[in-house]
Amino acid sequence: MKTIIEPFRIKCVEPIGMSTPAEREAALVRASHNLFRLRAAEITIDLLTDSGTGSMSSTQWAAMMLGDESYSGARSWERFEAAVKDIFGFAEVIPTHQGRAAERILFSTVLKPGDVVPSNTHFDTTRANIEATGAKAVDLLIAEGLQPGLVHPFKGNMDVARLEALIAETGRERIPLVMLTITNNSGGGQPVALANVRAVSAACRRHGIPFYIDACRFAENAWFIREREEGQAGRPPLEIAREVFALADGCTMSAKKDGIANIGGFLCTNDPDLARRLRDLLILTEGFPTYGGLAGRDLDAIAVGLYEALEEDYLRYRIVSTKYVADHIDALGVPIVRPAGGHAVFIDARAMLPHIPPLAYPGQALACEMYRVGGIRSCEIGSVMFASKDPATGAELPAPMELVRLAIPRRVYTQSHMDYVVEAIGEVNARKDRLRGVRIVEQAPFLRHFTARFEPLA
Ligand code: F0G
Repeated sequence: MKTIIEPFRIKCVEPIGMSTPAEREAALVRASHNLFRLRAAEITIDLLTDSGTGSMSSTQWAAMMLGDESYSGARSWERFEAAVKDIFGFAEVIPTHQGRAAERILFSTVLKPGDVVPSNTHFDTTRANIEATGAKAVDLLIAEGLQPGLVHPFKGNMDVARLEALIAETGRERIPLVMLTITNNSGGGQPVALANVRAVSAACRRHGIPFYIDACRFAENAWFIREREEGQAGRPPLEIAREVFALADGCTMSAKKDGIANIGGFLCTNDPDLARRLRDLLILTEGFPTYGGLAGRDLDAIAVGLYEALEEDYLRYRIVSTKYVADHIDALGVPIVRPAGGHAVFIDARAMLPHIPPLAYPGQALACEMYRVGGIRSCEIGSVMFASKDPATGAELPAPMELVRLAIPRRVYTQSHMDYVVEAIGEVNARKDRLRGVRIVEQAPFLRHFTARFEPLA
């Protein structure tokens, strides 16, 4: 059979919000044209994020009933720790309530002002948590990764020559760790090759710099390695994942992605002294080291979800269904980041709306229009999220790309939901010349995209 079907059937359903165009227009005005400010009940198809929005399996729900809520040494913790050690292989496992808590605990322990942390591309919370310590976050993505339309199998790779150059000019002592984000969320959900992980790892080991992986979508990355990298065809994703993590000294993880859980995360390291210091901080702000801010039942859901995310039938369906959406949007003539990412399709708003300058936020304008037309919630990943400041003048500088992300929750929407999304994008595309930019009328000093208020430009 050629048709790749959802490898599950639906046992429990949740109604979605249906609305009229007039209701959506009123909601947009009330939300100051920031889709984060909408009520979920006002959204028909929610592609804001794939984080914490997945459907848990019957096995995960059953595991939750086994949750042991003991404050310390719970059985749930034992199952969680065993699963994380089995898949990720690190000596020390520290549970956290989500990925950014792992980031904050790691960075506030190892970084100081003036330090530099290279990555392929730091995710926004990662960058913000690094900068909050006074350190600098540097993105060293390969050049191909910044060209949305260019097809390359591993557009998430780090440019290892630039890493070497950065280490040479900064000095090893000012680089407490190197990060690698798999898959590269902000760059289009693009994978990192096993060969690239090896090369980054070798460079770090040569200079004695600890190497940490931002592992949020490690299972999807393993699938891409299996499908696209020479010599990797047919390898079990679990085996690939283990090999990737064996090349690193630790990881941060949001279990809300490839843990297929609604909350949770963890931090791993092979350094026992560091682990001791991390746990001290964990106790201060997250919780005792055998629950880290999570309920026992959450730990159990994650312990099961991490394995489900690595199942071949699941990953085949997952990656093919994202590609399905990408191919249909591409067929409409709408420019997207190619090839399709693992967890999301990214529309190139700069190319789609060339009449809207970057600092009139074409991605934000497009995301609002998709909501207006179809009740679809997506997320701008462009200058609203990633603009920088000119160090000399303080003027706002646009981000390298103006993307709109359609993130696909795991095991939630069916093919007809996605056909509806494609139809709505077709409608938007037909009237794209009439779209106008927006301006920011209120913003926070960091992570402004979550709360900023916008006004359409006249
Ligand atoms: N790293 C990456 C690559 C991420 O994509 C995220 C979250 C985090 C770290 C932080 O994890 O949310 O559990 O604190 N990404 C979500 C998204 C929010 O929509 O892409 P968290």
